[in-house]
Amino acid sequence: MKKIAVMTSGGDAPGMNAAIRAVVRRGISLGMEVFGIYQGYAGLIEGKIKRMDAGSVGDIIQRGGTMLQTSRCEEFRTDEGQWKAIKQLQQHEIEGLVVIGGDGSFRGAQQLAKKGFPTIGIPGTIDNDIPGTEVTIGFDTAVNTVIEAIDKIRDTATSHERTYVVEVMGRHRGDIALWAGLAGGAESILIPEVDYELEDVMKRLADGHKRGKKHSIIIVSEGVCPASSIGEAIKNTTGFDTRVTVLGHVQRGGSPSASDRMLGSRLGAAAVDMLGEGEAGKMVGMQNNRVVAIEFDEVFNGTLPVDLYVYELSKSLSI
Ligand code: ADP
Ligand code: F6P
Repeated sequence: MKKIAVMTSGGDAPGMNAAIRAVVRRGISLGMEVFGIYQGYAGLIEGKIKRMDAGSVGDIIQRGGTMLQTSRCEEFRTDEGQWKAIKQLQQHEIEGLVVIGGDGSFRGAQQLAKKGFPTIGIPGTIDNDIPGTEVTIGFDTAVNTVIEAIDKIRDTATSHERTYVVEVMGRHRGDIALWAGLAGGAESILIPEVDYELEDVMKRLADGHKRGKKHSIIIVSEGVCPASSIGEAIKNTTGFDTRVTVLGHVQRGGSPSASDRMLGSRLGAAAVDMLGEGEAGKMVGMQNNRVVAIEFDEVFNGTLPVDLYVYELSKSLSI
């Protein structure tokens, strides 16, 4: 394979730039020409394609977001949109494509592979919600961002003896809440994968209060319900001075952590190697700290069990 392309799609995630850099530079070092597709599948359909040299990805490894930009594109969901995309790639004589994104982006990449155009996926999403890989690019940075926010909230919560309900991202997945909740010392963590009783949450709050806790922090994953409704219920039932903070898109930005830079670099290089070896229709991911390749179908049919050990641990450490 002599000409390949790289693009980012769906929600951006810190560490995507490290992956783009790795694809471009690994490709060049293997003697390939590498092209960047701007603005995801929408840009691909419109032919926003530029050749990239080694210097074009300089000074990006430390930056959040994606220098190629990203999008969500309805037209690409259709056969017609996908054929338009393939036509654009063929006009540039591009023979293989690396798609950095989440589940939806991989479904698009699989459609291209089924139509005969070789694609490889790299999991990039802060949600850590892709079966077949233990971790996705951006998750570690997002967790660190949330912890930093919790630490700050804790300062003001202690000063005023308040209860804080903090809503974090994750769409349908509770990993950001779970990891940041445990590492941030939250009193309760509510995630969509585990049923909860608000009464239990309040009891834990009241017990802590009796023992002299000066503040309490409850982390709610966005997939559970709006944090405001939990905050309202706590305030009305316990009478505790309660505030609600929704962290929002701040969790998607910022300089990627060392782990995310490593992950992006390793997966980016592996994706190019795979295309070079004639592989397609697969995602590269991490299992037992080793890079593995998994068929897209296996990714889509895979399950993502919640780490109940971490969930129980968080409960027993936050008494
Ligand atoms: P993510 O990749 O982060 O899960 P989305 O679910 O928004 O993000 O998907 C990104 C884009 O991938 C969509 O806007 C669409 O263009 C494309 N896509 C998603 N699902 C499909 C599908 N089933 N078939 C073809 N393309 C898809
Ligand atoms: O998938 C990443 C994510 O940030 C989710 O955590 C969140 O639910 C969603 O994207 C937000 O999407 P948007 O950027 O469209 O607001």
